[in-house]
Amino acid sequence: MVHAAWLPPEAFRSVGSRHTVVHGDGPLVDTVLAELRAATGRHGGTVRHGGEAGAAPLDLVLALSATPLPPSPQSQVAARVRAEAGSTGAEGFVLARRDGITVLLADTPAGLLYGLFQLARLGEPAFTGHRPAEHHRPALHRRIVNDWDNVDVHPVMGQVERGYAGGSIVWRDGVQRTDLSRVAGYARLLASCGINGLAVNNVNVHAGEAHLLTDRLGEVEAVAGLLRPYGIRIHLSVNFASPVRLGGLPTADPLDERVRDWWAHTTRRVYQTIPDFGGYLVKADSEGQPGPFAYGRTHADGANMLADALAPFGGVVHWRAFVYNHHQDWRDRGTDRARAAYDHFVPLDGEFRDNAVLQVKHGPLDFQTREPVSPVIAAMPRTRVAVELQATQEYTGQQRHVCYLAPMWRTVLGFQPWGEGGPTVARVAAGDAGPAGPAGTGGGGLVCVSNVGDDPYWTGHPLAQANLYAFGRLTWDPTLDPAAILDEWIELTFQPDDTADPQTLRRTLHELMDSSWQTYEQYTAPLGVGFMVRPGHHYGPDVDGYEYSPWGTYHFADRDGIGVDRTRATGTGYTGQYPAPWSDIYESLGTCPDELLLFFHHVPYQHVLHSGRTVIQHIYDTHFAGARRTEQMRELWRDLPAGLVDPALYARVGERLDEQVRSAHEWRDQINTYFLRKSGIPDAHGRRIF
Ligand code: GCU
Repeated sequence: MVHAAWLPPEAFRSVGSRHTVVHGDGPLVDTVLAELRAATGRHGGTVRHGGEAGAAPLDLVLALSATPLPPSPQSQVAARVRAEAGSTGAEGFVLARRDGITVLLADTPAGLLYGLFQLARLGEPAFTGHRPAEHHRPALHRRIVNDWDNVDVHPVMGQVERGYAGGSIVWRDGVQRTDLSRVAGYARLLASCGINGLAVNNVNVHAGEAHLLTDRLGEVEAVAGLLRPYGIRIHLSVNFASPVRLGGLPTADPLDERVRDWWAHTTRRVYQTIPDFGGYLVKADSEGQPGPFAYGRTHADGANMLADALAPFGGVVHWRAFVYNHHQDWRDRGTDRARAAYDHFVPLDGEFRDNAVLQVKHGPLDFQTREPVSPVIAAMPRTRVAVELQATQEYTGQQRHVCYLAPMWRTVLGFQPWGEGGPTVARVAAGDAGPAGPAGTGGGGLVCVSNVGDDPYWTGHPLAQANLYAFGRLTWDPTLDPAAILDEWIELTFQPDDTADPQTLRRTLHELMDSSWQTYEQYTAPLGVGFMVRPGHHYGPDVDGYEYSPWGTYHFADRDGIGVDRTRATGTGYTGQYPAPWSDIYESLGTCPDELLLFFHHVPYQHVLHSGRTVIQHIYDTHFAGARRTEQMRELWRDLPAGLVDPALYARVGERLDEQVRSAHEWRDQINTYFLRKSGIPDAHGRRIF
């Protein structure tokens, strides 16, 4: 059994019980028709294509803008909406209802497909009363998921790097799966929340995976064929040293003609096989991956070489900015990993081709529970920047803990790097940040590392599905309210017909999930300091786990205080990478937000926060509160009346909540004990610390 995630058949009850006509043709229109036929077959409605005859009076008209409408009363309604609505844009649609007819119009088949899923989200209200014409169009053109799937099982990372939901749905033990039906289901789920691109393999491209570009390209083609009906283009992570490893050349120097020819020729072959191929994704000179530095070249040289190979076919290279020294000497206080992406890339602003996108992790370190927004995002006005988020919960509980991430992402996307009233991060990613920021670059879009595997619930923890759904919805509209997205996901996933008491179930899920990111933050690393996880697998607490390691992620706790001094005045100078006003807000202890204090400053334990509490008391209080909250979350689930959800799902969530409670207590006790021992300052409330 594979769980239907947020598209159970019941989600299409309203659409499927209607009588529908579709005007238009094309492969994606065929997908719309197939969806409608499945839904009407189940729920009693009918569907006609174009002029096909049918007896039932119509409730729903779907039409492409350029398709002539046959004479009929319904067509007249649709024609009126069409005349008023005007253009819908490349992937947008218009939805209206008048005279008892619901009308969905789009300039392109993709728009019709997105509109169909919007009808499923709306349910019955889409078919009642009057609806003025609403325009829907995605805020971002590039809405991409990155899978970190390996072909061969990696000895340390396994089949999916940082995967917490079983194996890959594409590969198993070095070969492509013969049954790729999960991929088709995945494409449908992704399209339904707005995604239009998928990079299919891990950014760390090992020996076996490198061959996907050449002699194993057929495997990429097979996946592309399953994504295409849902409007999703495939992208491929490639190894920068491919000309050497696959092409037998003595060099991968991006300025060497033989290397450039090899990429041009190889890319031409990719497009002959997959005409709608999206482009390459590259992790270069990072954590052991090869890159242009080996030849004394810049990252712009490397990215531009691939961009030139892709340009004739309309492809784009996503070049990752995650470049830093992972062999740092912990004794060296002058090197700051948080500075690295800016120091490497900002001097190259303006040098990248139009079809090169710089893909930047949302924070300067590495997907921690709390980080400031990466300063690179605001510092490259002449470069297309994509913002990368992580749905796979590497540092946020590994899909054993409930941690709904949309509130974090919404904070990032709504951040205004140039201060109040200026453009947001989302607008930079959309390429329309206006006079203060990057403009007219087309934008790099939003990218998210996926949390899906071959687990029956797709994401291991059934409630982790909400993160993937929320990412998709935020790519479409980054201003959506995370709580509203959560309710939308709950209502789609847990349909009234499945449960005796939908309201109780929905209320409980909302309460359990809505502030779970803040809860997770409470019982893990405090005040933005980051990296107190166990090295390697990154699960559970290990306060000093990375403290004397080469990875550049330190908290510098001693008997007097904690935190990283990243000020210009006395620290690493990182605050200077932000434009005003943030460069000053973060610099000053008086204005630095509490939740990021230890990211920017080293302070004594007795330092008083804006909240009025000392740092040490904040640590104790939040850890007791966070762990206690996980107990309440488990109680909420346990208190659900029997039979409200499928027993297997109920059991799966219950097991994971048990583990979350256990782990949160472990975090609480290790962190509190560590800081009591370091500081010697007791808890003001005398609670038990070991
Ligand atoms: C993290 C993660 C790695 C991953 C890397 C990346 O460091 O732990 O597994 O390869 O991010 O984003 O490239």
